[in-house]
Amino acid sequence: MFKYLKFSKRGRIGILTLDRPEALNALNEDVFKELAFFFDNQEIIQSIRALVITGEGKAFIAGADIKAMQNFSPQDAYDFSEVGKKVFNQIGHLDVPVIAAINGFALGGGLELALACDIRVASEKARLGLPEVNLGLIPGFNGTQILPRLVGAGNAKYLMMLGEGITAEEAFQLGIVQKLVPAGTVLDFSVHLAEKMAEKSPNALRLIKELVREGMEVISTEAGKMESKEFGRLFKADQQERKEGVRAFLEKRKPNW
Ligand code: CAA
Repeated sequence: MFKYLKFSKRGRIGILTLDRPEALNALNEDVFKELAFFFDNQEIIQSIRALVITGEGKAFIAGADIKAMQNFSPQDAYDFSEVGKKVFNQIGHLDVPVIAAINGFALGGGLELALACDIRVASEKARLGLPEVNLGLIPGFNGTQILPRLVGAGNAKYLMMLGEGITAEEAFQLGIVQKLVPAGTVLDFSVHLAEKMAEKSPNALRLIKELVREGMEVISTEAGKMESKEFGRLFKADQQERKEGVRAFLEKRKPNW
């Protein structure tokens, strides 16, 4: 079905692997087409409780495909940037948590894809960065917007203006990466984390994801109001998961979502 993607399941956890190791999983139009198709597939998404994204071989994703971009017109480049953003937005709008399992290089558009995920787990051997400046380019898939929000303007500019890349340990210290694990264990650990999330209320997970996303996009008072609105909505009579969660706690048992 896919040329550049592999999909498998471990129980309720989906594993999506970028599978273009000969180009270090670089993102071109065809890869984006396949990703868009995958994220649109409600049958798959509704059959899982969390998704882990990783890369085949020694890279997570080494960025946008530099060879493919060589002869882009301004319109081509604009369209490519918009297509990438659309796909990354799909990740942000998925109803399930998405974990980036960074097994190796996560550079340029590859780091931007990881930033579009909810949580990032990295191998101690991984290297992360936004090296576009070395190519006379700038990050084109929301990197200039998301990174400063995550690590502050100074750290984001440091990464983007030097374009050198950092170790996974440095990325962990900055808060880009939430968990650092020994090389070779990143996928298993990410699935383990995803399984832990899968035990939580799917509705609460979806709302947390939505509220954090919306809060990044609108001014904080607006996000605050939304949070209160959604919190209140959870107490409507038909909110079965809230009822079950509270009931299970009081009955000293695991909730059955
Ligand atoms: N696009 C296309 N091909 C790529 C690629 C990329 N981003 N990154 C690596 N490749 C290809 C290489 O050209 C090479 O192909 P050949 O075997 O046909 O020569 C193959 O993948 C293996 O790569 P290397 O031989 O370079 O592997 P290495 O271990 O020596 O180096 C690396 C690894 C440091 C990651 C190096 O490949 C590299 O610097 N890659 C480019 C990283 C980069 O600049 N990314 C940003 C892209 S621009 C972007 O992403 C813009 C945006 O936001 C929209």
